[in-house]
Amino acid sequence: MKGIVLAGGTGSRLFPLTKITNKHLLPIFDKPMIYYPIQTLVDAGITDIMVVTGGKNSGDFLRLLANGKDFGLKHIAYAYQEGEGGIAEALGLCEHFAAGQPICVVLGDNIIEKDIRGAADAFRAQGRGARILLKEVTDAERFGVAEFDGDRIVGIEEKPKKPKSNYAVTGIYMYDSSVFDKIKTCKPSHRNELEITDVNNAYVAEGTMTYSFLDGWWTDAGTFDSLLRAANLVRQTRGPEAAEDDE
Ligand code: DAU
Repeated sequence: MKGIVLAGGTGSRLFPLTKITNKHLLPIFDKPMIYYPIQTLVDAGITDIMVVTGGKNSGDFLRLLANGKDFGLKHIAYAYQEGEGGIAEALGLCEHFAAGQPICVVLGDNIIEKDIRGAADAFRAQGRGARILLKEVTDAERFGVAEFDGDRIVGIEEKPKKPKSNYAVTGIYMYDSSVFDKIKTCKPSHRNELEITDVNNAYVAEGTMTYSFLDGWWTDAGTFDSLLRAANLVRQTRGPEAAEDDE
């Protein structure tokens, strides 16, 4: 399985922090944000990775990540998203890289405590369709939210005012190669983006969407509050080994 980190977009919700740099280069405790989703993939045994970036500071990703030595990689592939046409648009740029193989996609601002090895193994065994990772939250209206009939997902709603469950769809997605045809059928949403939720609903409609529950904490880092929360969670999880720097 190949890995993709989506780190495009303008990060407008973090302005002025993102006025002169890309959101995914901002620090989360002791590392740049982009390090965390790359590590998530590497920890799942995925070492063939593409990073999609955009904006004016995309060259900084190459300087920071180079060929991936910090992650034990020999090579990282890069793609450039012009504009901010949505998560599904950014993913669509990876068709050539995926080359017909299954993919694991991690949003560049999603940070997790544990690993996704179990879900990745389950998807490898599944063979086709898609698998999403769900997390129970208290603020589901901020996310894509799964609707269930018994154990089965029957739909996903993007940022619903009245969520039909407390299960957020995290920014970790596993897809077979049909994802790129599904993206091509997507139409821009009211926020003028190609929505990953529409792609996921295409798998739900086809009856090939499965899910796993994510272990440990999960946060995005795209707002001031979640950026701070992410840093604090990483710091707490790192435990006493990080404490020597405290005054
Ligand atoms: O964090 C999980 C949530 O991420 C999901 O629950 C939602 O269903 C999904 O739509 C997404 O919601 P957000 O509105 O929070 O996504 P955001 O626009 O903040 O983008 C998240 C990441 O996706 C961002 O850090 C980089 C990447 N991205 C986003 C856009 C809009 C791109 O690479 N290109 C883009 O054009």
